[in-house]
Amino acid sequence: MHKSIDLPILYFGTPVVLISTLNEDGSTNVAPSSSIWWLGKSCMIGLDGSSKTTENLKRTKQCVLNLPSADCVDAVDRLANTTGTKRIPLHKKTWGYRYVKNKIAEAGLSTVASNKVKPPRVVECQVQLEASVEKIHRFCDKSLVPMFAFELEVIQSHVEESILMGDKLQYVNPDHWHPLIMSFRKFYTTHDYIHPSRLESAVSVEKYRVKEFTGLGGRLLRNSFRLLYRRHFKLDR
Ligand SMILES: Cc1cc2nc3c(=O)[nH]c(=O)nc-3n(C[C@H](O)[C@H](O)[C@H](O)COP(=O)(O)O)c2cc1C
Repeated sequence: MHKSIDLPILYFGTPVVLISTLNEDGSTNVAPSSSIWWLGKSCMIGLDGSSKTTENLKRTKQCVLNLPSADCVDAVDRLANTTGTKRIPLHKKTWGYRYVKNKIAEAGLSTVASNKVKPPRVVECQVQLEASVEKIHRFCDKSLVPMFAFELEVIQSHVEESILMGDKLQYVNPDHWHPLIMSFRKFYTTHDYIHPSRLESAVSVEKYRVKEFTGLGGRLLRNSFRLLYRRHFKLDR
């Protein structure tokens, strides 16, 4: 029997990301977040407006989404209740947050330079996604603390070889990739493959690749196609 209840949080289980951004003085900030979802080569992350990461993303429009696997759980947990903001906001003070200048060192992590963005990658994370901020949305207007959803485009991916498909080095092998997942404030990971999926058997993974249209001709082609597609399927309604 289902109960009609008022859930205080809706964290049903999403991967944890360590977001690296650049502070004003050029140093690196890293912060855990688990409000994230993906579509194509883009993703949305949800952040408390008072966090240093929000400030850095608004200013620099760049970050790296470092995805920790299960074995990074201790490092991630060490970053709980820490902030790179010196002036700790009231709600975080009451939750026991403290200011930490060097959160990379605090977590026992290390960094390496990125290819296309200024913030560095976290070496210990098996997946590192360099990303640019495309849009910023106000989110969750009922919250007293301002919240933001950042729409990011992944512009360069780095994946540890041991979690790639042996023969096809462009794909992640989900049997080897065990993301750190937060579900209702507890850490979990994946291990049990439970059922074949029709998504997998129906269409080649290559069909999911978002095609790049570059140059004036490419952009014209993409925009004409989009227009025709929208009109034909009446997508603007
Ligand atoms: C596992 C984990 C998941 C978190 N998920 C989120 C989240 O989804 N959104 C958010 O705003 N804060 C989240 N936090 C809290 C942030 O890490 C916190 O706001 C922190 O102050 C951000 O660091 P910064 O101020 O240096 O950017 C999470 C913390 C942990 C440990």
